[in-house]
Amino acid sequence: MTNLSLDAFTADLERLRAEAEQTLADVADEATLEQARIEFLGAKSGRLKLAQKGLGQVAGSDKPAAGRQFNAVKSAVEALFQQAKDRAATGPANVSAETVDVTLPGTPVRFGRLHPLTQTIRRVASIMGHLGFEVVDGPEVEDQWHNFEALAIPAEHPARDPLDNFYISVANSAEPFLLRSQTSTVQIRVMEQRQPPLRIVSLGRVYRPDTADATHYPMFHQVEGLLVEPGTTMAHLKSVLRAFASNFLGGDVHVRFRPSFFPFTEPSVEVDMEWNGRWIEMGGAGMVDPAVLEAVGYDPDEVSGFAFGLGVERIAARRFGVADIRDFYRNDVRFLEQFSDRGQA
Ligand code: PHE
Repeated sequence: MTNLSLDAFTADLERLRAEAEQTLADVADEATLEQARIEFLGAKSGRLKLAQKGLGQVAGSDKPAAGRQFNAVKSAVEALFQQAKDRAATGPANVSAETVDVTLPGTPVRFGRLHPLTQTIRRVASIMGHLGFEVVDGPEVEDQWHNFEALAIPAEHPARDPLDNFYISVANSAEPFLLRSQTSTVQIRVMEQRQPPLRIVSLGRVYRPDTADATHYPMFHQVEGLLVEPGTTMAHLKSVLRAFASNFLGGDVHVRFRPSFFPFTEPSVEVDMEWNGRWIEMGGAGMVDPAVLEAVGYDPDEVSGFAFGLGVERIAARRFGVADIRDFYRNDVRFLEQFSDRGQA
């Protein structure tokens, strides 16, 4: 029986395709997907099955064309069904796109931290602050008076040799300036401007013509302490250093003095600290030389004082277990990031 024109068959197929497209686009879950499957792909009376039956009613000469059209629409509907099925499996499109997967690993945030020497400087300043010492700053480019003469190191004094470093000529100045070779310059600057009693601490960079090795570098940091009050003795000096060291390194740190010489202190000592059974040289100290007190206008019969200068790198190396102070300046983040005093600086 041939009673279906090719045009009518084609029109039916196009309607089928359009409706399948619409219905499958609305599929949101397994239930509506199953309904759509039965409607369009059902084996007995699905719309495609019915269209296939219609093919039998098309005139013989039109059959090849009608068959090609049927196959094209069938593949299209099957593809649309597959897409709808995938969507139903992953949930509604907008919801899955907007969902945040809280189980995914986050984007790591890189935490910066302070350089171990900065951490050390802040911690030393904080501890000394608790002992009543005010933090003061001094210039890194100094005149010769503060770096040498006022500290009783005249031009011909041999103590200048290891301290002489990088001179800088300054416009309108007859004398060259230099990078300070010790923070003791700040002792003088403070005493010139203030009257006793004094308790100050100064932390900063100093420069020396040293060859770099595990414990030396041409630039390093010092912490300078100065206390001037009536009745000050070496016992006060030792107590302050011991309190500082015990606080900084933890536990009961012993402090040892060895006789030494500095032009601006009398007597002068080298300061060693014992920690984990080892003695480490930390710096120099002594009673402020009466000649220095006089030079700044103090009366040595009324006041006396002590001063000390410790190496910040040595203190930091001790605390962090660093064997070579050059590592502090190499700027290798893998080294630097190991040291964190968070919350303590
Ligand atoms: N300024 C001395 C040095 O750098 C250390 C020191 C400071 C010594 C204060 C005595 C008093 O070697």
